[in-house]
Amino acid sequence: MVMISASILASDLSRLGEEIKRVEPYIDMVHLDVMDGVFVPNITFGLPLLEAVKRCTSLPIDAHLMIVQPEKYVERFVDAGASIVTVHYETCLHLHRTIYQIKDKGAQAYVALNPHTPVEMLSDILNDIDGILIMTVNPGFSGQKFIKNTTEKIKRLSKIIQQKDLKIKIMVDGGINEDTVTDVVCSGAQILVMGYGIFRYDPASFRKKLEEIKCS
Ligand code: DX5
Ligand code: ZN
Repeated sequence: MVMISASILASDLSRLGEEIKRVEPYIDMVHLDVMDGVFVPNITFGLPLLEAVKRCTSLPIDAHLMIVQPEKYVERFVDAGASIVTVHYETCLHLHRTIYQIKDKGAQAYVALNPHTPVEMLSDILNDIDGILIMTVNPGFSGQKFIKNTTEKIKRLSKIIQQKDLKIKIMVDGGINEDTVTDVVCSGAQILVMGYGIFRYDPASFRKKLEEIKCS
């Protein structure tokens, strides 16, 4: 079963609680995009908002840290209630250590890859991580256009995971909607992070479409 993690960056933040309740029946997780204005050209939110989301829903929360030096904050994100903490490969000098900071606190550790970073960069750490987030847009904003050749990367990763019989989950993030979902799911994506596709369109009809996808 493919899961949806709804990115609240695309919601009406002035009514965050209601927005989460509106989409809750159609999603599996809530996705929090933490941006620092240094790693990515945008600034969003951090720990206080995670705590607020926690009070609005009992769904698991995944925190996507688009910040430099994430090792300074990962434990606090777990303490604040994140079930999954995702750090970017491009921001971690000591990725193995940072992953175990997350896991030792009891959360799942995912590693995100920018569109230009090959999946092979993670080949020596595959046994240590719970999931890989393939960015299907350049990180920084909701509502961007899906980068098409990232589906090849999802397929490559999916093959590596199968060959090595690993339990790693493949998450995708950026530009997922009714037009792009079949390609990513049939390439191997298991968790879809969705901003506009869920909050700005009809979440019920999207969920229905997702459940009807047949891959040849
Ligand atoms: C982009 C963020 C995404 C974004 C997704 O940097 O990581 O999570 O909010 O939004 P959509 O689905 O609208 O591309
Ligand atoms: Zn994200």
